[in-house]
Amino acid sequence: MGRSLSPVGSIRILGLMSGTSLDGIDGAIADIEESAGQIAVHCLAAKTYGYEPNLRRRLLALAEGMPHSMAEIAELDDAVAIAFGRVARQLIEESGIQPDWLASHGQTVYHRPPDQQSFGYSVQLGRGVVLAQVAQVPTVSNFRRGDLEVGGQGAPLVPSVDALLFAEPTEHRVCQNIGGISNLTYIPNSPRREGGYVLGFDNGPGNMLIDLAVQHLFQQPFDRDGAIARLGTVDRELIQQWLQQPFFIQAPPKSAGRETFGKGYFFDRLRECQQRGLTPADVVATLTELTVWAIADSYKQFLPNYPDRVLVSGGGCHNPTLMAALSVALSPARVDSTTIFGVAPQFKEAIAFAVLGYLRLHQRCGNLPSVTGARRAALLGEIHHPLLPV
Ligand SMILES: Nc1ncnc2c1ncn2[C@@H]1O[C@H](COP(=O)(O)OP(=O)(O)O)[C@@H](O)[C@H]1O
Ligand SMILES: [Mg+2]
Repeated sequence: MGRSLSPVGSIRILGLMSGTSLDGIDGAIADIEESAGQIAVHCLAAKTYGYEPNLRRRLLALAEGMPHSMAEIAELDDAVAIAFGRVARQLIEESGIQPDWLASHGQTVYHRPPDQQSFGYSVQLGRGVVLAQVAQVPTVSNFRRGDLEVGGQGAPLVPSVDALLFAEPTEHRVCQNIGGISNLTYIPNSPRREGGYVLGFDNGPGNMLIDLAVQHLFQQPFDRDGAIARLGTVDRELIQQWLQQPFFIQAPPKSAGRETFGKGYFFDRLRECQQRGLTPADVVATLTELTVWAIADSYKQFLPNYPDRVLVSGGGCHNPTLMAALSVALSPARVDSTTIFGVAPQFKEAIAFAVLGYLRLHQRCGNLPSVTGARRAALLGEIHHPLLPV
């Protein structure tokens, strides 16, 4: 295992992320450097490592709201930290690249936005102290808490990074991530001028409903290459009805999780599909199209300017049926994946958490109050160093 040195002035950070899909842990090692106020990211190695099936099952049950004792939750917290730590070690060994720091999102298992009476509450398992110890690399983790504690939703956090990496003075842009949930960053062409402000919120379901439908109706983990949706017929009337539901018409800031678009939501929609005689492939096609229209509708309702260009990331990029429908629905905006800017779409979020780690290490705030609804900008992330061997 070789060790290459970071260029002067840059920090080499291994970002770790697992989203609501629970499909696996994404790791990305990136050099992050800055000159004249512009942050540049060079991704050196990246890979997704699947969860051990038993751990995934237990995390799903917790995220779906099954009652657990505190002892069980504590045990899962450490099991996730150990899994993330092993992923870090494996990526370091396979790439031969040693990072200076880890920056870990952890695994969300609970998320409750704030309301008039109470602060929001969001739980990411995989505590930093254990992760740093397993990986033997100093670690920044638990990024959402800093935003929650200043009244924010704790989500989404990636928009501040999108704005740093993808702002362009000649275009209104949207960075559209399609993970389990879909979420966007709107970057106006003049984010620093008065009236131009970055927005970010969850559009609605991402791959989550498609995955649930394919798992339930076809016993497959996901609709590989959109093959099933391509065979089905979309029920547009049903989609129009669904788009009237509170989540879709509620103005941002808003965030969603498995509580909103998990199994409970899926089985309600499935019942409606079956009442109208839809075939299993029609159900998958209709839920794929709902995902697309929830995105398109949210632009029309909530963005101050229609985007000129949309940069898509997340696993949804790999579903050509979804991507083709998205290009049609978002026209005349130009739809591309983040690949054209040198960022592999499935690793954008892991890289974004590496950048949030970089900001924390430079004592800079990582949240955007215009995005999370926080009262003010805040430092995000806790720092843990591995204990030296005794
Ligand atoms: N080849 C593919 N064809 C269709 N869908 C895919 C493909 N690869 C990944 N996906 C989808 O992407 C999802 C994972 O996306 P990801 O961005 O990792 O989500 P999350 O952030 O929630 O973990 C999978 O659950 C699956 O639905
Ligand atoms: Mg994932």
